[in-house]
Amino acid sequence: MKIGIIGLGYWGPNLVRNFLSQNLVEKVYGCDMNEDRLMFVKSRYPSVELLKNYNELLEKDIDAVAIATPVNTHYKLALQALNAGKHIWLEKPFTSTTVQAKELIELADSKNLKIFVDHTFLYTGAVRKMKDLVSNGELGDIIYFDSVRVNLGLFQHDVNVIWDLAPHDLSIMNYLIPDKKVTAVTACGISNYNEIENLAQLSLHFENSSCFAHFHVNWTSPVKIRKMIIAGKEKMLVFDDMENSEKIKIYNSGVDITTTEGIHNALVQYRIGDMYSPKIEQTEALSLAAREFITSILEDRKPLTSGEEGLEVVKILEASDKSIKNRGLLIEFEQSFEKFYYHSVLPFQKVG
Ligand SMILES: NC(=O)c1ccc[n+]([C@@H]2O[C@H](COP(=O)([O-])OP(=O)(O)OC[C@H]3O[C@@H](n4cnc5c(N)ncnc54)[C@H](O)[C@@H]3O)[C@@H](O)[C@H]2O)c1
Repeated sequence: MKIGIIGLGYWGPNLVRNFLSQNLVEKVYGCDMNEDRLMFVKSRYPSVELLKNYNELLEKDIDAVAIATPVNTHYKLALQALNAGKHIWLEKPFTSTTVQAKELIELADSKNLKIFVDHTFLYTGAVRKMKDLVSNGELGDIIYFDSVRVNLGLFQHDVNVIWDLAPHDLSIMNYLIPDKKVTAVTACGISNYNEIENLAQLSLHFENSSCFAHFHVNWTSPVKIRKMIIAGKEKMLVFDDMENSEKIKIYNSGVDITTTEGIHNALVQYRIGDMYSPKIEQTEALSLAAREFITSILEDRKPLTSGEEGLEVVKILEASDKSIKNRGLLIEFEQSFEKFYYHSVLPFQKVG
């Protein structure tokens, strides 16, 4: 298979390295309009053929294109690649709008081309272990996600911190609890330096109040924290991505209410049992992601992280924009026959 990678900035060179190491890949092309980035890749990976012009890349005899450019360029570049008959890999977040995401999915389906969205975390040993634990019922019914992803991060020019960082957490959440339906979104944040929010909090409500999720993202924190608590009715899990060896800890802890006859009579019993840290696989996530993309093409099936998974994340991001601009207004999802649309809980603020 021959792969072209467009966008050789911060993230693209990681794709170059991981596609080069796949034994099913015979040639990798790289494309960036910035000469310095081409020189950088040339110095590290001399076997990569480099081009400045995307149209020239699409004219090459390649099977697939990986797009690692800023979010607001994803749709246009992906559309061109699909129209040129190439399978596509898109960096997270998939697109800037749900309309764009749906159009790309439909186009790819009509041409039997694959869309892979790089929700990298789903290929980490830690998240795969978490999936096993949730699927085999060890945690019991999941009642909340509480997550912090903060550091002195790279400011993106075209999207706010929710669009940049929350796709990781949202894709993990959707993967772990695919059957729980998000019904409403609320987001608050602040732009301290320009028009783009650098700190934000995102909360999700679920059907029948079956779960709640809260994500705190920040590009301007003095310390780097990557922590997620996933609470089940039976056990609770803490995922700390800053830990080297014990990234996941399972706590046999919980709360049992033995009587519900009024708050004063309620007997709350705390369960504090053992904690253990399961062994997790160490294979580099991007390498597994690249293999999944390639095999999904060869086996003519949807990849684990397809356009549909990308769309589910973009729906929440899009709703978060509407909420954050209205200081945390609750944006509820409603499903019509053809498409999702949003409306606020306040009258006369119907959007989307
Ligand atoms: N999966 C992950 O964990 C992860 C991590 C970081 C970034 N990303 C994603 O990767 C994408 C890129 O992010 P980044 O931080 O590398 O951005 P970046 O700005 O560092 O790099 C983007 C590069 O694309 C090039 N480019 C843009 N438009 C082009 C065009 N039309 N033709 C040729 N080159 C073009 C720019 O010159 C630049 O070198 C974003 O979608 C981001 O969200 C994903």
